[in-house]
Amino acid sequence: MEFIREYADWFYLIGAVLFILTLRGLSGPKTAIAGNRYGMIAMAIAVVTTFFVAENPVVWMILAAMAAGAVVGIARARTVPMTQMPETVALMHSLVGLAAVLIAVAAIIHNNKLVELGPDLLAANGVTFHEMSKVHLFELFVGCFVGAITFTASVFAYGKLAAKKWAKTISGSWVKPVQALIFIAMLAAGIHFFLTGSMTSFWAMTGLALAFGWVWIAPVGGGDMPVVVSLLNSFSGWAAAGIGFTLENNMLIVAGSLVGSSGAILSYIMCKAMNRSIINVLFGGAMGGAAAPTVAAGAQVQRNYRSGSADDAGFLMSNADSVVIVPGYGMAQGRAQNAVKELANLLKEQGVTVRFAIHPVAGRMPGHMNVLLAEADVPYEDILEMDEINSDFPATDVVLVIGANDVVNPAAKDDPNSPIYGMPILEAHKARTIMVIKRSMATGYAGLDNDLFYNDKTMMIFGDAKKVVEDMTKAINGTGH
Ligand code: TAP
Repeated sequence: MEFIREYADWFYLIGAVLFILTLRGLSGPKTAIAGNRYGMIAMAIAVVTTFFVAENPVVWMILAAMAAGAVVGIARARTVPMTQMPETVALMHSLVGLAAVLIAVAAIIHNNKLVELGPDLLAANGVTFHEMSKVHLFELFVGCFVGAITFTASVFAYGKLAAKKWAKTISGSWVKPVQALIFIAMLAAGIHFFLTGSMTSFWAMTGLALAFGWVWIAPVGGGDMPVVVSLLNSFSGWAAAGIGFTLENNMLIVAGSLVGSSGAILSYIMCKAMNRSIINVLFGGAMGGAAAPTVAAGAQVQRNYRSGSADDAGFLMSNADSVVIVPGYGMAQGRAQNAVKELANLLKEQGVTVRFAIHPVAGRMPGHMNVLLAEADVPYEDILEMDEINSDFPATDVVLVIGANDVVNPAAKDDPNSPIYGMPILEAHKARTIMVIKRSMATGYAGLDNDLFYNDKTMMIFGDAKKVVEDMTKAINGTGH
């Protein structure tokens, strides 16, 4: 065991490299499983090494906490349905935030105890004691308040996503001044703690940070919660890195920074794909789920669209050379992924080239469509990202849009007055024939009408995604070539 202690920094370095490889692996579906494995090994190295590096660890307490965590973690991982993933992730971030707060509290109480005992008694017992430096106080201050904000904000995000009654969206002219007031009071208490080391200020700062986390996220609309969860993921990383400095643990600093920066990049990508700024998401009030449709119901009725049956659509597709399937939130909602995979397989058997086109914010969480298609065992090479497939649409015979709406709305390209103008879209409107499966002419998440549905080349097939796709498969089976 002396060996582990002596080479701890080397073990941490190996762990850090493995964590970097984890992120690299997770950047593509083919390498994601290997990425997960690297992450597991890195985490095991980090935990085991830290165990031996710690001075006088209370072994039973650590083991009991680890066992309890493992039981809850394994049980949750085995039972959580795919649809509850976003709120589960939010809940896990809350734990990282809480851990950061508790570690900061423990570090301060521990220090105060040592000061109380006095240098003579400590020296007599062979304990070397250094006064907490200003840098140390600053780390504690930042780690603790970022952790506290992450904790309550994540608990709120969990409640919102799980549709809990207590997670009510707040609104009103009082919200912003109250947010500002709490934030300023929190900073003032933190700075006072930093300058004087006063415990009263420390507790005040922690309490105010907990309150701020709540009032900061509570006005954000339910539809924007995925971006918030990604941002909180980033926060939890920075909180862990801050605490890494406190504990002088290089592994925690590296892992925390990786989580912090990757979460920040993901939040940026999500905002860009929705054509919104992070400031607008966090402080602009609710959009999306809460937005009113911008087109009056009457106006929609007057526009002409063409509708067809699953049989017609199946026949057309089985006679095409190339089909691109664009899945969206409706495929997730209708749990149609397995039926879609069967349809794709059948078309392939008939000699049709079938590919899937994924928009970065299709569905309601990052990677939503990729996860569903992977669950249905759709081969990775058939799944293409927006930038890879957009130039292929003009040469595509049939685009089959399954429960997607905003991500194929041409207004994002053509209409400068549209709220989604500038958002990158899958250019399905450029294909030779377009088929859209949805239940009605209702709008999608952004509450906007979609010109694609009224295009001369478009055929609407109304119904639940799973049922329509199954009917298409039956029709093709009956038709053959
Ligand atoms: P949406 O624009 O929300 O459209 C989904 C469509 O699916 C709806 O128009 C709905 O029409 C249809 N639908 C719902 N249930 C269905 C079912 N069972 N069977 C068939 N159709 C069904 O979805 P999208 O195109 O995937 O776009 C995603 C939107 O969410 C974007 O605006 C994006 O900015 C936003 N968003 C995404 C994320 C992430 S990270 N993915 C995060 C926050 C916000 P009917 O009601 O007529 O059936």
